[in-house]
Amino acid sequence: MNIVDKRADRITQLPPYLFAEIDRKKAEIQAKGVDIIDLGVGDPDLPTPDHIVAVMKEAVANPAYHTYPSYAGMLAFREAVAAWYERRFGVKLDPETEVLTLIGSKEGIAHMPLAFSNPGDVGLYASPGYPVYRTAIQFAGGTPYAVSLLEKNGFLPDLDAIPANVRKKAKLFFLNYPNNPTGVVAERDFYEKLVDFAGENEIIICHDAPYTEMSYDGYKPMSFLEVDRAKEVGIEFHSLSKTYRMTGWRIGFAVGNAEAIQALGKVKSNIDSGAFEAIQAAGIEALTGDQSCVAEMCEIYKRRRDLMVEALNEMGLSVTPPKATFYLWIKAPAGFTSAAFATKVLEETALSSPRATVLAPRGRVTSAWPSRLMRRD
Ligand SMILES: Cc1ncc(COP(=O)(O)O)c(C=O)c1O
Repeated sequence: MNIVDKRADRITQLPPYLFAEIDRKKAEIQAKGVDIIDLGVGDPDLPTPDHIVAVMKEAVANPAYHTYPSYAGMLAFREAVAAWYERRFGVKLDPETEVLTLIGSKEGIAHMPLAFSNPGDVGLYASPGYPVYRTAIQFAGGTPYAVSLLEKNGFLPDLDAIPANVRKKAKLFFLNYPNNPTGVVAERDFYEKLVDFAGENEIIICHDAPYTEMSYDGYKPMSFLEVDRAKEVGIEFHSLSKTYRMTGWRIGFAVGNAEAIQALGKVKSNIDSGAFEAIQAAGIEALTGDQSCVAEMCEIYKRRRDLMVEALNEMGLSVTPPKATFYLWIKAPAGFTSAAFATKVLEETALSSPRATVLAPRGRVTSAWPSRLMRRD
């Protein structure tokens, strides 16, 4: 039997795997014994804070957590989320209806179009952006439409430029600020326009906000839900992955519009069985316990950011220090495509930034600084 030929269109129609050439180069260099520093992956290298690990150690031994979890997540976890949102953003949420526990925010993002997209429906997504937005829309049978983030617009989407016929067919719009990969932030005036746009065109906003806590120099990013009427038009995805260095634990949440939360929950209840409750217990500790770990993390990343920015500027690659996230969106030098530049850097310095090839079709290289590059701190 030829299994390959039996694959569904949703798999065969995925964009080509653009890392392949860089991965091949990486393997070639590694085979020579060179220790490659990978700046391409947004995975914090700092361990999960001790107080969170301590709660997990106890929770994992508790038989009460060994059964199937509830689909929507433990009420205690959802209450902790609601309390955190109110403390951090001044946004009030009903933990029963406006909060849903996710097995990492990626899981919720990937399932959201299954709740809302029928074949022929358009799903808008900011581009460049987290690749899951596009594939999730496609997997659900929707038609992805890229809304470009351009330098001339401060890497914010130009909502007026979205054609009327596209708006008419669009049901969802995925975007994320503070932004992966450009590092830019969005302010209240943009979110207000976004809420108006969503209301006028009846498009559900899926704002993905895992980087609100990773910010520098006193800057505090806002939540899209802080804007009046935002809850009427959308939801926000959030994650404990980056804020509490818990990428491997798989815990996140969606908050906002109760009907959207309910529909997403319905999809999930037919696909997964909820997040392991011991992890939710550790999540409660993360959200309600000592928050000094967040400030310490930002301080470390700020030092790394400053080192990167200084070094890049010295090389003639002009970069402005981002106010949030751990991403730099760097223009490739004249005469290079982003892929060619990333390959050259890899070959000559053993620094790898593989996402450059995927996310930077317009000649940009993205670089994250969670890696051991800066282990000296
Ligand atoms: C913009 C964005 N959204 C979502 C995620 C997924 O986070 P999680 O670990 O909660 O699935 C990431 C991870 O890198 C991300 O950069």
